[in-house]
Amino acid sequence: PDHRPLYGRHVLVTAGPTHEPIDPVRYIANRSSGKQGFAIAAAAAAAGARVTLVAGPVALETPHGVDRIDVESAREMAEAVEAALPADVAVMVAAVADWRTRDIAGQKMKKARSGLPELVLAENPDILAGLAANDARPGLLIGFAAETENVIDNAKAKRARKGADWIVANDVSGAPKDSVMGSDHNRAHIVTADGVETLERMPKTELARALVARIAAYLETDETE
Ligand code: C5P
Repeated sequence: PDHRPLYGRHVLVTAGPTHEPIDPVRYIANRSSGKQGFAIAAAAAAAGARVTLVAGPVALETPHGVDRIDVESAREMAEAVEAALPADVAVMVAAVADWRTRDIAGQKMKKARSGLPELVLAENPDILAGLAANDARPGLLIGFAAETENVIDNAKAKRARKGADWIVANDVSGAPKDSVMGSDHNRAHIVTADGVETLERMPKTELARALVARIAAYLETDETE
């Protein structure tokens, strides 16, 4: 068997949350440890790929053989992703904040007796959908979906809406207590044009290897067609 099936390929991965600053000490973010994305970057590198990992703020070590670019906000992440193109495969695992504050206070906001501050939000770019529409769209574009209900139907709809080839859907019902987030395990379904493959609950490192094996198989058949 080929131990480096992704040799010669460039794999682009996003991971972690984004932080959208409110003022110098506060931010808006989604829950995300970055573990799944880092595991995928590690597995792709182990399979021989050149890997660019665009990481939001997380406390994780850079996997061996991976080029890591650290970013804070969604707009920084979008920029770093574009700058990393072209790529053969992109796996968008980051839990990107949907909104940022329209304005960032230059100084720490103070508690006032006179009432509560109001945050005015603005929409962040959708990095996955942006890649799907990019002239340099990766040949295999994979998104993730964290869902608490109707996991597969929502993932199918997301696949179509965002223009991704595959969506890896996580069942995060029970979050933030039970769950997938921050844990070392994941329960996933891979939704493709051909249907849905449901994987058993497994460590995130193992899910990463399973996904990388499917990516390698896909690229191989794609080439011999
Ligand atoms: O719409 P939702 O956030 O559930 O979609 C999740 C997928 O889209 C993930 O692959 C995530 O990395 C990606 N995404 C993105 N940019 C955003 C929001 C989500 O790339 N602004």
